[in-house]
Amino acid sequence: MSMQIVPQAAEVKETAPALRGLEGCAIVIFGATGDLTRRMIVPALYNLQQRGLLPDDFAIVGFSRSRWDTAIFRDEMQAAVREFAGGVTVDEDSCKQFVERLHYISGNYNNGEDFQQLAAMLNTVSRQHNCGGRYVFYLSTPPSVYSDVIQQLGAVGLHQTEESDSWRRVVIEKPFGRDLATAQTLNAQIADVFAEPQTYRIDHYLGKETVQNILVFRLANHIFEPLWNRRYVDHVQITASESIGIEHRAGYYEESGAMRDMFQNHLLQLYSLVAMDPPVVFDAEAVGAEKIKVLRATRPIPLTQIDQWAVRGQYGPGWVRGEYVQGYREEENTDPQSNRETFAALKLYIDNWRWEGVPFYLRSGKSMTKKVTEIAIQFKRVPHLLFGLTPADTLNPNAIVIRVQPNEGFSLQFRVKSPGQTIRVHQVSMNFDYESLFNGEAPPAYETLLLDIMRGDRTLFAHSEWIEYAWGLITPIIEAWESSPASNFPNYEAGSWGPPEADALIAMDGRSWRRP
Ligand code: BG6
Repeated sequence: MSMQIVPQAAEVKETAPALRGLEGCAIVIFGATGDLTRRMIVPALYNLQQRGLLPDDFAIVGFSRSRWDTAIFRDEMQAAVREFAGGVTVDEDSCKQFVERLHYISGNYNNGEDFQQLAAMLNTVSRQHNCGGRYVFYLSTPPSVYSDVIQQLGAVGLHQTEESDSWRRVVIEKPFGRDLATAQTLNAQIADVFAEPQTYRIDHYLGKETVQNILVFRLANHIFEPLWNRRYVDHVQITASESIGIEHRAGYYEESGAMRDMFQNHLLQLYSLVAMDPPVVFDAEAVGAEKIKVLRATRPIPLTQIDQWAVRGQYGPGWVRGEYVQGYREEENTDPQSNRETFAALKLYIDNWRWEGVPFYLRSGKSMTKKVTEIAIQFKRVPHLLFGLTPADTLNPNAIVIRVQPNEGFSLQFRVKSPGQTIRVHQVSMNFDYESLFNGEAPPAYETLLLDIMRGDRTLFAHSEWIEYAWGLITPIIEAWESSPASNFPNYEAGSWGPPEADALIAMDGRSWRRP
């Protein structure tokens, strides 16, 4: 069953116009010759220009070790725009206008003199493009040089400005640390130089349209929030499955694994947004504080019974969408005996008034059946059974499913009577689909996040304390797994829904995973 939703013009309220707070500025990209710059950051900035969302006074300064110059940088970035900009026109004139904003300086991340030169260059660029000394420092480098860059920015005084209408901001890409201790160290290194309100820790899931909509859906409607608690919710499932494998990223993945790569950041962000209490106002501090409370209230996994709370998996060979996929241990540059998890599932409880006793099941993996990210709020069964229903067939009849991707939208599942003289109960779903209603207008996550950085809105970025609570939950599990290699790897076939251990984890509670 599908539902037609008609947008009512009078109700469309723009609470924060995209251009509010947007001032001329320069963005300095460290790691300017890398993949992320080429595929994501620069194309997203170009798209913003094409949508009229870049300030007129805007410049990009690339900084990297490669001995490029401005001319090479402009050529390379023009090629990147042509390859990766999407959903906007890429023509000669606008490319020319865009590349004129680009400048490049090569240097070492730990060399004070190179940073002096960067400061001098920024002065010139800021005057040329009228940026008013407002700079965004975007760390798109390997994490190993984050601390060097931050220290050097502090040493040459680029982190602060005396001008009242000026500002400095720093953006840190993931991974933010590799465990609690390294995340704490990095937070401390940043805090030595930049204040928390200047710091933007990127999690691209927070820039996804449906993720932002979780809060609007919950808090701009009155009908859902009264049900959003232990009285009505049986359990919550958060799934982020991927059909792709590790895609030539063995070097990174062998060090990271599903827990670091997906749970510490993306899944725990979804979890925090779904479980948090309403903030008093919609701003970075208030929303951030509520999200932190969720992690503070999350019960640590009992390490003596870890298998009953967390399971790991690694894919072996199999078929994904009709194509043969080799096992993780056969992928280029992985260890043939690798103990690295490519799948994980976790059961969490939140010890507070809203969620006491309600399990949250989280799972994510590579080389699975399909790519789907969704959050399902499964409601309890009716208190008294009628219509010949038995306890077995009334498990979780009602659910709200938030489809983060693909087919972004929401669906509400409930029961109706099928036509006929006898009463037969049928499960149906009411569907709201973004693309068909809004013509697929959802902006890509990086555009949203870059715009927010320039506008100074940190609501969609991770707070230092949140990061540390997230690592605090995840680190003991990773350490336990790293110190006791899995004896059964590989334990799921590529193209499946994950290992049987994950089914057992939820079946232990008399429940089962959804098959989205
Ligand atoms: C990244 C991970 O953060 O997120 C990748 O490093 C993963 O391993 C990706 O594939 C998933 O993002 P998305 O937006 O495709 O769901």
